[in-house]
Amino acid sequence: MLNPDLKRLKPYPFEQLATLFAGVEAPEGLKPIPLSIGEPQHAPPQFVLEALSDNMGLIAKYPTTKGTDTLRHAIANWLNQRFALQNVPIDPETHVIPVNGTREAIFAAVQAAADRTQGGLVVMPNPFYQIYEGAAFMAGLTPHYLPITESGQPDYYAVPDSVWKDCQFCFICTPGNPTGTVIDEATLAFLVDKANTYDFWLASDECYSEIYRDTPPPGLLEVCAKSGNTEFKKCMVFHSLSKRSNLPGLRSGFIAGDQDFIAPFLKYRTYHGCSMSMAVQKASELAWADEKHVIENRALYAQKFVQAAEILGDRMDTHDPGAGFYLWAKTDVPCDTFSRELFKSTGVTVLPGQYLGREVNGVNPGAGFVRMALVAEPDTCREALERINAFITR
Ligand SMILES: Cc1ncc(COP(=O)(O)O)c(C=O)c1O
Repeated sequence: MLNPDLKRLKPYPFEQLATLFAGVEAPEGLKPIPLSIGEPQHAPPQFVLEALSDNMGLIAKYPTTKGTDTLRHAIANWLNQRFALQNVPIDPETHVIPVNGTREAIFAAVQAAADRTQGGLVVMPNPFYQIYEGAAFMAGLTPHYLPITESGQPDYYAVPDSVWKDCQFCFICTPGNPTGTVIDEATLAFLVDKANTYDFWLASDECYSEIYRDTPPPGLLEVCAKSGNTEFKKCMVFHSLSKRSNLPGLRSGFIAGDQDFIAPFLKYRTYHGCSMSMAVQKASELAWADEKHVIENRALYAQKFVQAAEILGDRMDTHDPGAGFYLWAKTDVPCDTFSRELFKSTGVTVLPGQYLGREVNGVNPGAGFVRMALVAEPDTCREALERINAFITR
């Protein structure tokens, strides 16, 4: 016997991509360039790597699930400064838990929050980061997909109150994956109001918040503070070092927000057994305290978006969404065909948008787009963009 919810989990987009590419070879002599996975290829900060190795001796100790005081203080300080929370500061004792990358925490949070006896919805954008959907399935709830519009985010104002009434948990993603679009402050405030009116948890996945061009994207906690929700009621945010600091393998992030969720979630996690290794905690503490490497990182992404516009010009929609590191570009042939033919003739891999979305009423809002992760070093990215340009021109 197995948990029947396991059968509800869908193949991950990269498994679908492997099936699409089965038997297809990149051209001989051309080095493959993957722009499919959002794994930053910029160098991780040296001081973080040194802190990791300097603290390897701590591997002899069991870490606590709650994490060290110093790490939670470093996280709280970062949040307070980045989101101007000085007047309603984050309490490192009650508002924050370090997590082993946001993926595991996003997945676990719904299971900790869900009241299975009631049933109900987990509201999420479509296309999306697929963990939201898997989390809903494993919590025994039903995903409710909100199609993104031309804006790159769902039209939250168009969601009927009947949906909010049945909602137990709502994921928002800002800046979004796959579009990079940011949810503005007014819409965040509107969603905080809905969460409190209809009593659901509002979870903002902000793991791309530090990759932006000019304007720092607003965060959910910041909007709570500004709108008088000083205890962040019904709200939580997820942040990660994976994209901000080029440390996807460190597995380090945090959840912060309403202590009415954080406290029971800590209890859940104690059983789940997902405390963060002490060496990782020490390294993470330093990473959250430093902005210099983040500023340098941002500049590299900005440079690559300029490159994309220069190289692809108006042959492809290279509109810079202002944040994140994805180009979400329309294709004039089916997006899976585009992706397979592109790989076959150039060795560049991009992800068909349809794999990131779900068909609702006959429409998959991800279809007809490809997601290109501009994660490679600028020179490699330039090479990939030039090959894409040659492919489209042909
Ligand atoms: C939208 C989104 N959320 C969360 C994550 C998870 O990141 P991590 O587990 O590395 O913190 C990713 C990773 O690609 C993502 O794209």
